[in-house]
Amino acid sequence: MIEKIKHLLSEAENLQAHNAEELESLRLKYLSKKGLVNQLMADFRNVPAEQKREVGILINRAKDALTARFADLKAALATTDDDHSDLDLTRTPYPIRLGTRHPLSIVTHEIVDIFSRMGFTLADGPEVEDDWHVFGAMNFAEDHPARDMQDTFFIESHPDVLLRTHTSSVQSRVMEQNQPPIRVICPGRVYRNEAISARAHCFFHQVEGLYIDRDVSFTDLKQVLLTFAREMFGPDTRIRLRPSYFPFTEPSAEMDISCNICGGEGCAFCKHTGWVEILGCGMVDPNVLEANGIDPNVYKGYAFGMGIERITNLKYQVKDLRLFSENDVRFLEEFMAAN
Ligand code: PHE
Repeated sequence: MIEKIKHLLSEAENLQAHNAEELESLRLKYLSKKGLVNQLMADFRNVPAEQKREVGILINRAKDALTARFADLKAALATTDDDHSDLDLTRTPYPIRLGTRHPLSIVTHEIVDIFSRMGFTLADGPEVEDDWHVFGAMNFAEDHPARDMQDTFFIESHPDVLLRTHTSSVQSRVMEQNQPPIRVICPGRVYRNEAISARAHCFFHQVEGLYIDRDVSFTDLKQVLLTFAREMFGPDTRIRLRPSYFPFTEPSAEMDISCNICGGEGCAFCKHTGWVEILGCGMVDPNVLEANGIDPNVYKGYAFGMGIERITNLKYQVKDLRLFSENDVRFLEEFMAAN
């Protein structure tokens, strides 16, 4: 009997359980009602009186050792289970820092929002375009200097394929597929072969607007642009239209707003003129309507296009264009409040 108990004691130290089932079978074998410990207790009756003391102590030690070992194994299993099931070790630690929208996105949304309140809907087109949509359909003469290698990125193996130099290509895409009334606003990225500096970049962003219907006049264009300028830069903003030239509009104009940095008083930003140019516009040239399948004898339209970086510079006084594409978090975080 004493041998049996000593054996049990040494067994207790080495018990192992790799999962809940193994642990349960250990319990059944040693600690349950019909387990080994209870059997020893039952046999205790038959132990001769002079051995009872020694055997009694040993049985209690065996019982304590088994109970303690069982508790240890149970605790160990509980923690290994947690490691594998409940904890996601790939999760980002708290606190999670939220990103901010890019200043160009903030301004694009604002421009789109203003024009959508005036009934314009969104349209877009590809950045990798063909010569026809960027130039041909927009009434550029074959030998127009804007097609020149100086300004346009052509794809070498496909001379007809290029990176669009303006969002006016979307005008053509929209007219091709829709009959008037057309009232769209088209934000997007454009590319020009320019040396990168604080004031120029080889890519930037534009928003194009196009309105085609019966009886559209220059007055409509002017009122829409004035409303836009006041919504964007404040109710005291004034506008001025200067005659200009674009192949796809006739007549054409460039629009200035009263400098919103000095309020028109004159400052370094507006070169002390009190005015800053923000967009090009005009009445859609009848040749453009015709080239894109719209009858110029029935319909008229206006179009405008503006650089989003320019509007953003005016709103937030960003002095170096390169900041927009460097993704410096310190710069981007400055727009936290505008988000
Ligand atoms: N596409 C012209 C540019 O890139 C802007 C413009 C758009 C002018 C529409 C008139 C009408 O400068």
